Amino acid sequence: MTKQFYLQTYGCQMNDFDSEIIVGMLRERGYSPTEEEESADIILFNTCSVRQHAEDRVFGKAGDLKRLKRERPDLIIGIVGCMAQNYKEAIFDKLPHVDFISGPRNIYDIPELIERVQGEGTRLAAVDKEERPQVMERSVAREGRMKAWVTVMEGCHHNCTFCIVPTVRGTAQSRPVEMILKEVKSLDAQGYKEVTLIGQIVDAYGRDLNPATDLATLLEEVDRVAGAIHRIRFTTSHPVYANEKLFDAMKRHARICENLHLPIQSGSDRILSHMRRGYTVENYKKRIEEFRKRFPKGAVTTDIIVGYPGETEEDFQKTFQLMGEVEFDDAFIFKFSPRPGTDAMHFKDDVSKKDKEARNQSLLRLQERITEKKLRSVMGETVQVLVEGKSKKDKSEYKGRTRTGREVVFRANDASPGGLIQVKVGSYFGKTLLGAIA
Ligand code: SAH
Ligand code: F3S
Repeated sequence: MTKQFYLQTYGCQMNDFDSEIIVGMLRERGYSPTEEEESADIILFNTCSVRQHAEDRVFGKAGDLKRLKRERPDLIIGIVGCMAQNYKEAIFDKLPHVDFISGPRNIYDIPELIERVQGEGTRLAAVDKEERPQVMERSVAREGRMKAWVTVMEGCHHNCTFCIVPTVRGTAQSRPVEMILKEVKSLDAQGYKEVTLIGQIVDAYGRDLNPATDLATLLEEVDRVAGAIHRIRFTTSHPVYANEKLFDAMKRHARICENLHLPIQSGSDRILSHMRRGYTVENYKKRIEEFRKRFPKGAVTTDIIVGYPGETEEDFQKTFQLMGEVEFDDAFIFKFSPRPGTDAMHFKDDVSKKDKEARNQSLLRLQERITEKKLRSVMGETVQVLVEGKSKKDKSEYKGRTRTGREVVFRANDASPGGLIQVKVGSYFGKTLLGAIA
């Protein structure tokens, strides 16, 4: 009987994509995926270390497997991704029933690790690689037939004081242009309709290559080879690199979507400088202004940390004010948690839990109001939608997404998945737009 594996993913898009790579590799070796943990022969967690909360969840879930492992000693349990890199062999002290660990840069070792654990019955750790091998992604088991991730950059070289990403994912490393273009061509040939170029600081793409290049140039080249692909996206950008050249390139090519995820982290210059973010609130606002000048209906989203060490009520008020002023289309708000190996680990985590929670709530409520206002502004408008398929609830309804990534549910007699259509928006429910084919 074929062996079955269960894989649970935590964290960012990089991890979502890594999981598709892992599923692809394991399928190639004859394993099949299962949704049922209880009966799986192999259980894998692809983990995230960016916040304490994400790690706690995995320690909890993986801890619960002790019983299963006692009942079925042949069960193989692997912790892969950022927590493996963060804790290395110390994971075995906390979770003695785990069989192997593998960091993000050792991802391609996973099939062999599984085989070796089966053969040798020993515990294994693969967390030694300084760089991730650059390979063409061939056997990726992509979720869905419509949208695909394409990695353009691994790691990050910024070392923001609070962030563990450079430690666990390594320093910034751009993939060669040719490799990216080949992957895009192959995705087009397979019928994919949307590609998202991903990297921790995707807009710093190419600076480390020889000859150096940039994201604007890469986007132009991706557009040139994209064939029947309808949409090109990219994420996550860093305010230091998101410049007018990039926005101009977006403007020149209709299929590059006018969507910018630009984490600001704080509205206080004092905090930004302490975080070593490399920009001021004023610089940041200028970037948004340049973007919106070109794309009045474009979407800007952001990340914000509340309760960073030393954040006073006054600093927080500046963040609150900034959010009201900029009016993001969406904002992801996080409570600061100290991460091992980062500089902020040595700062006094001096904002109380209660204050962090209160600041978090107050920004969430503010953003809810802004999102609502943004949704209302689309009422009565006609928007371009990439059709994803029939809606689950009502068979006469379809679903898809706008260019700015909003979910749309709409009525139509017939709408073929993968096609672009125009939808007239009439109302909304939660954050989903509702309408009918125009
Ligand atoms: N460039 C990355 C950022 C990685 S972390 C990207 O692709 O998204 C994602 C977000 O988590 C950051 O923007 C930051 O807002 C938040 N974050 C990072 N470290 C954190 C910490 N120690 N505590 C709370 N939030 C954190
Ligand atoms: Fe993290 Fe700062 Fe890089 S948030 S991913 S170190 S830009």
